[in-house]
Amino acid sequence: MTDFAADRLLLFGATGDLSRRKLLPSLCALDADGLLPEKLAIIGTARSDMDDAGFRDMARAALEEFLPAQRRGGMATFLNRLSYQKLDASTIDGFDALAEKVKAAGESGTGDDGGLAIFLSTAPSLFGPTIAGLEHAGLTGERVRMCLEKPLGTDLASSAEINDAVAAAFSEDRIFRIDHYLGKETVQNLLALRFANILFEPIWNSNIIEHVQITVAETVGLEGRVAFYDDAGALRDMVQNHMLQLLALVAMEPPTSFDATAVRDEKVKVLRALRPPMASETVTGQYRAGAINGESVPGYDEELGKPSNTETFAAIKAHVDNWRWKGVPFYLRTGKRLPERVTEILIQFRCVPHSIFEGSGAGLQPNSLLIGIQPDEDITLSLMAKVPGLDEDGVRLREVPLQIKMPDAFVEQNRRIAYERLLLDLIKGDQTLFVRRDEVEAQWEWVDAIRAEWEEHSVTPKTYSAGNWGPTAAIALTERDGVSWHE
Ligand code: BG6
Repeated sequence: MTDFAADRLLLFGATGDLSRRKLLPSLCALDADGLLPEKLAIIGTARSDMDDAGFRDMARAALEEFLPAQRRGGMATFLNRLSYQKLDASTIDGFDALAEKVKAAGESGTGDDGGLAIFLSTAPSLFGPTIAGLEHAGLTGERVRMCLEKPLGTDLASSAEINDAVAAAFSEDRIFRIDHYLGKETVQNLLALRFANILFEPIWNSNIIEHVQITVAETVGLEGRVAFYDDAGALRDMVQNHMLQLLALVAMEPPTSFDATAVRDEKVKVLRALRPPMASETVTGQYRAGAINGESVPGYDEELGKPSNTETFAAIKAHVDNWRWKGVPFYLRTGKRLPERVTEILIQFRCVPHSIFEGSGAGLQPNSLLIGIQPDEDITLSLMAKVPGLDEDGVRLREVPLQIKMPDAFVEQNRRIAYERLLLDLIKGDQTLFVRRDEVEAQWEWVDAIRAEWEEHSVTPKTYSAGNWGPTAAIALTERDGVSWHE
């Protein structure tokens, strides 16, 4: 942890989608709660030609659209923190003027007082030129942090290229790679569940756990991101980052402390232990026209306007080749235009070794733990219980849920946007919830192996109707192991 708090935040891509939907609303919400450093100045930069007032107007409109009214208190104070500098990041020319603006925004106007946090949410092709420009203008010193938003490359080689370019100007302890799933409260709660309770750790292994399921289902389709998504696909857009981070948090060994190095050391070990799946352990799909919540929606090819081999759905049977997880499949599944928006993790335990109730005909279900990430944030442990009665026809057992409703348990707490936590940690300099270079590269290595396997076996996506849980082959993927997806 580099020990300075930034007093200036420089946003590249400040007029873009992420900035309007998430970054500016998160910053405003933090400000409303008095959580931003008092002197923090926020400088936006992008290609658009506008002045400070124009940027503030744009920001106000974004806040009104994307931040609930009750979290917008003190919006005027927040808007006062904002200033803007037009820049074409592909050439070096404008960077001196940008540096002047950044200096002027500092507390004393000299730029020497606090620190600077830079948030890069631009096309990856601009990463290299931006860093060259920042170096040229003296904006890469020891008191400058660099935060990078995905996509960080399309494979290991291109990701390494980006990482090298950034590493030439910033040491790893000043690089903050975002995976916004790590900013989600429920994702962080996975660590609390596992490591703040004595109950789970002794049973968290292949002796007691039969398999794990991780589902990240979305109802949305392309959402206007046609070009980006068609080049990416579900594997690179969702599995490479968010799903592998979830898997790593479920499968990691206990870190020695809740500290950036300790946590990330353990995650990377899991990521490196992932076995490359065979083509037969994966299923890909692409949605066709169908209906979601009673509304008809077009197919992917129709939205795109041409045929494509990009997968909008992926299901994978993954294996973590280490002592703890030997023989425990991790079934991963994600897709667009699925029947509901749900992210959840199911831990399926084994059956009891011997049922004392068998003679009386009572069936036993193995226990399971369902961890809701979104939209429901409940944790449900399924247990067997005796059905009340006199048992004249023998003991009857039924599965009953032991459920914690997280929002009810913490009603006084605000539900926050994932970026609120991440932006605050960036300003403070805490890297625990950011992804280290070795993690990203281990993730890409595994994803590249899958893509190579698909290529070798000429795998193309099977179709599924929007509003279904992917192609039928995804059901077969688990059913042949005697497992059903949790729905
Ligand atoms: C992004 C993907 O990283 O995550 C999108 O690029 C996806 O395709 C989004 O829709 C999902 O995030 P969330 O927070 O809505 O689950």
